[in-house]
Amino acid sequence: MSFDSISAGATGCFPRRAHTINATDDAHTHTVAVYMHSFNPDCENDTVHLEVHKRCTTEELIEKVLAGRAELEGQSVQDFDLFEMMGTPDGQTYKERRLDPGEYPVAVQAIWSRLPVVVDSATPKNRFVFRHRGYRAATGGTRFGSAEVASSIDAFLTKFLVQPQDREYADLCMLPELTEQTLLDNLRERFANGHIYTYIGPILVAVNPFCFFPIYNPKYARLYFQSKRLGSLPPHIFAIADVCYHNMLRIKENQCVVISGESGSGKTESTNHLMSHLISLSQKGSTGCSTEQTLLSAGPVLEAFGNAVTLTNNNSSRFGKFIKINYRENGMVSGANVEIYLLEKSRIIFQTKGERNYHVFYYLLEGADEEERKKYFLLKPNDYKYLNQNEPFVLEGVNERNEFDRLRHAMSSVGFCAKTQQTIFGIISAVLLLGNITYIKVSRHGYHSDESGYIENEEVVDLVANLLHIRTETLMQALTMKRHVMKTETVVLRYSVSEATNTRDAMAKCIYNSLFHYIVLRINQALLKKDFSAGKGYYIGILDIFGFEDVGAQCNSFEQLCINYANEKLQSYFNQHIFQFEQEEYLKEGISWTNIEYTDNTECVQLFQVREEFQIHFH
Ligand SMILES: Nc1ncnc2c1ncn2[C@@H]1O[C@H](COP(=O)(O)OP(=O)(O)OP(=O)(O)O)[C@@H](O)[C@H]1O
Ligand SMILES: [Mg+2]
Repeated sequence: MSFDSISAGATGCFPRRAHTINATDDAHTHTVAVYMHSFNPDCENDTVHLEVHKRCTTEELIEKVLAGRAELEGQSVQDFDLFEMMGTPDGQTYKERRLDPGEYPVAVQAIWSRLPVVVDSATPKNRFVFRHRGYRAATGGTRFGSAEVASSIDAFLTKFLVQPQDREYADLCMLPELTEQTLLDNLRERFANGHIYTYIGPILVAVNPFCFFPIYNPKYARLYFQSKRLGSLPPHIFAIADVCYHNMLRIKENQCVVISGESGSGKTESTNHLMSHLISLSQKGSTGCSTEQTLLSAGPVLEAFGNAVTLTNNNSSRFGKFIKINYRENGMVSGANVEIYLLEKSRIIFQTKGERNYHVFYYLLEGADEEERKKYFLLKPNDYKYLNQNEPFVLEGVNERNEFDRLRHAMSSVGFCAKTQQTIFGIISAVLLLGNITYIKVSRHGYHSDESGYIENEEVVDLVANLLHIRTETLMQALTMKRHVMKTETVVLRYSVSEATNTRDAMAKCIYNSLFHYIVLRINQALLKKDFSAGKGYYIGILDIFGFEDVGAQCNSFEQLCINYANEKLQSYFNQHIFQFEQEEYLKEGISWTNIEYTDNTECVQLFQVREEFQIHFH
């Protein structure tokens, strides 16, 4: 199974990123707004505002709602559910999930994406909705404020279901004339009519709409619960999940979805839709499960440490990830696992013009309170060498202070205790301060003396050592001296200024990389279910690598070269399966067929793979 995503090419049309609610304190209560039966913020009368402690469970919250509404007197908690829902004020539902009775709604709302500064009727909001258990079955969907709104949603769904067969082709393989032009025209026409997905046989092409698109709500999820065969319903990412799931159960083999596309084309967004549908498939409904909750909380953590603003995407993943959702033989989720690849380390010490370092640095610097600023020796972004080489530090429409709160909540939900969080933020500050260590040449008598580098600002080394809980002398030695182990003796030599600077930068990259791996390890521990009775099982893997980039006149970094190679390799896999193997099969079966010409990238891939042919010269 493959999935390919294509960008709409809307350069400069960046999505607004997450925004936030207020800081929380363990001792305080938190306000939770619950919408009664519907998601319509215009009906304020239908909203209950409750002051609850952060450890208040869903069940307790439902109890409080029942106690506060005279018309619900005498009703049982068991008959009601609380849903977290994302939708626009006009009633278009984007996503919906039922909370487990033991879940903490305060923790759930703390990691919701925040509203942008400018809010209009098309801006999706997260809400809690309170419903009777029998509600869905009786109405077949979500009830909205007015009949008018309800009919407009149904019209959207009807338009989605009745896609023209003769003009726009839902599967590009059915195009009567297959050329690059007809293919692009077809995609363009479908996109203009609101159909962002198109198949090419078993591959799904997604054209990024760069706006709220209400096609991931439970109505669509339910449609694709039993589709089983691609093409029986209009193209959709849920159909890919559905086919994978049923194939896994039918042929009893692990499945994999490969997502590729250039940076900003929507790979991570598609991964999230796939994941949420794959998990809800095993529940046969849009209910939550602990794996999904942990994955939901893990998202903001991985994003803060592994995503950054780039020229093409203001929330670009700078690492590849392979998410495995594990299933028991009976199709129930038994846990998940995240593997990461190739974190872009060069970004930690240097960013291209118009790009930023990893989000977490800015979140910490903006979000830390006075006490934390002192504890972590924090400065302003402009005062750090690793941040001040480029503008901008500030991202329009994003409140970094609130993002820091959201990150801390997400970290707590994944299981990072307060002490571990402090250690992590201490390390983040240490990485930044490392960049501020400067060297001078000190002329001394003796061999090579004029090349020796000495630290100019030892007080900064002191701070870094303090944050990393190591001895200052040890750190000083590591930053200025190298050891050569000879046959009979060990020689210690002082670095030149440029060598020492490189060592400092390498240390910063290495520390950050180790920290990121540690965070992933902890997330995996939280995702691991201690259910050893599960016995044999399978997994569905989703590969979301970071996108191909060609920076043109500037030099691609070594890391970008590696990721571009990974993308070429995927393309070669795609070519083999879609063209080469398929055409060979036709030939074998004697089907009359004119071979399709395609750009074969084998030579490019081999250039990197064959050791004798590929040599990089490092300067
Ligand atoms: N299906 C979708 N519906 C609505 N918006 C989308 C969709 N897919 C992507 N987007 C928008 O496009 C933006 C970029 O998408 P995303 O971060 O998933 O790209 P990416 O391919 O993972 O990029 P990178 O390789 O840089 O990580 C998202 O923040 C989102 O606003
Ligand atoms: Mg991404």
